[in-house]
Amino acid sequence: MTKQFPEGFLWGGATAANQLEGGFHEGGKGANLADVLPGGKEARLGLLSQTGFDFTIDESKYTYPNHEAIDFYHRYKEDIALFAEMGFKVFRLSIAWSRIFPNGDEQEPNEEGLAFYDRVFDELHKHGIEPLVTIAHYETPLHLIKEYGGWRNRKLVSFFERYVRTIFTRYKDKVKYWLTFNEINGATHMPLLGLGFSPESEETRLQDSFQGLHHQFVASAQAVKLGHEIIPESQIGCMLIYAPVYSYDSNPENVMHARAESDIFNFFCGDVQVRGEYPYFAKRYFKENNIELDIQDGDLETIKEGTVDFISFSYYMSRTDKKVKTPEEVGQGNLVGGVKNPFLEASDWGWEIDPVGLRIALNELYGRYEKPLMIVENGLGAYDKVEEDGSINDDYRIDYLRAHIERMGEAIEDGVDLIGYTSWGCIDLVSASSGEYSKRYGYIYVDKHDDGTGTMERSRKKSFFWYKDVIASNGANL
Ligand code: BG6
Repeated sequence: MTKQFPEGFLWGGATAANQLEGGFHEGGKGANLADVLPGGKEARLGLLSQTGFDFTIDESKYTYPNHEAIDFYHRYKEDIALFAEMGFKVFRLSIAWSRIFPNGDEQEPNEEGLAFYDRVFDELHKHGIEPLVTIAHYETPLHLIKEYGGWRNRKLVSFFERYVRTIFTRYKDKVKYWLTFNEINGATHMPLLGLGFSPESEETRLQDSFQGLHHQFVASAQAVKLGHEIIPESQIGCMLIYAPVYSYDSNPENVMHARAESDIFNFFCGDVQVRGEYPYFAKRYFKENNIELDIQDGDLETIKEGTVDFISFSYYMSRTDKKVKTPEEVGQGNLVGGVKNPFLEASDWGWEIDPVGLRIALNELYGRYEKPLMIVENGLGAYDKVEEDGSINDDYRIDYLRAHIERMGEAIEDGVDLIGYTSWGCIDLVSASSGEYSKRYGYIYVDKHDDGTGTMERSRKKSFFWYKDVIASNGANL
């Protein structure tokens, strides 16, 4: 039975500047992290997990699809018109920090960069679409990475403050919904993306990641406080990557292990950003992992004062956990670790598909925090085929989304305060973990391919018309 979605539910789609815009050198933009990430599954995934990456571009060896992405920089009007045609209420995008401060440590912002987002926000409002802006989405300016070592360095807290003050002041009449750091809790798995550093060794990975996270907690809390001052009606959220952790079986040792893994992965960052303090389990975890944080005077007060208004999260998969894995089981789970779940199918990229897990996630998050929730990423990365008549019959994507939206309806019925849903990659774009165009999430097809060919032309997939109807019926027609 179809469940009722609340009046004013924020339906829409989500993107990030580095995967969408292109315009790598245009408008005074400086290089950022995504600009040095190579295209292709092996190259990029290998790099994300390795240590000691030197952040250089080597065009003789690699391609760099984020440089061109899908050229939203020049085509935003056409794209926004298509979002409007689907009836989007909200569009999630990020501001590329290095468009505003090309190096990240300048005193004065780059006017051309600011003007670009003015045009984008104006265009969205023209179509009655509310922007939802991620302030930092895997796009740390390259200079801050190379010169300062990324978020391990405390100085980034003040550079970030200047950046957020600039964008809050500039866009105060245009943007009400903000998110601070994308998937902040993914940092310990992939510090390169979120924290802008490549660990020197496995030994230093955790210490540096948690120190970097502490800096981001302070920076995020400062941003919330500033945002509330500059834009009194603003709603500022945290952004987590959430993957419910299941115990492999009922062995209490496995159950306890799964619980502890969930605490540190799913709840550690949320507890700091929503409750305003480090959770009770942090002390023991830090001790056992030899982590010692440099917490400066006033940091804990700032964190306490700068708690978020709502919680946003991405949901792609659950994780099945086993305390002791056999060698064959290691790496058999998915991106967030774990072992294979015999009850679940996986996507072509090995991401286990688990709609019920979304209902579990919603209940776990709401049960713990009782704050409004927004799902700001969810979707199926898949290969699409263009038929001879130009149609793209992506029923597999519709099935995936339908199953997840149904579970959202269930969670709302459970009593969860869910306020919005922006599915990931509403228009095909460059994959973050694999640097591919061929891993497509969109309702809108973009004619661009991994070998660099393609016209960039946009076309409507079958899911485009399906989602349009979902929105028009406020979730009744699935
Ligand atoms: C999230 C990121 O992890 O997942 C996005 O916030 C990313 O940037 C999305 O694109 C899907 O992952 P991928 O690797 O399939 O692009």
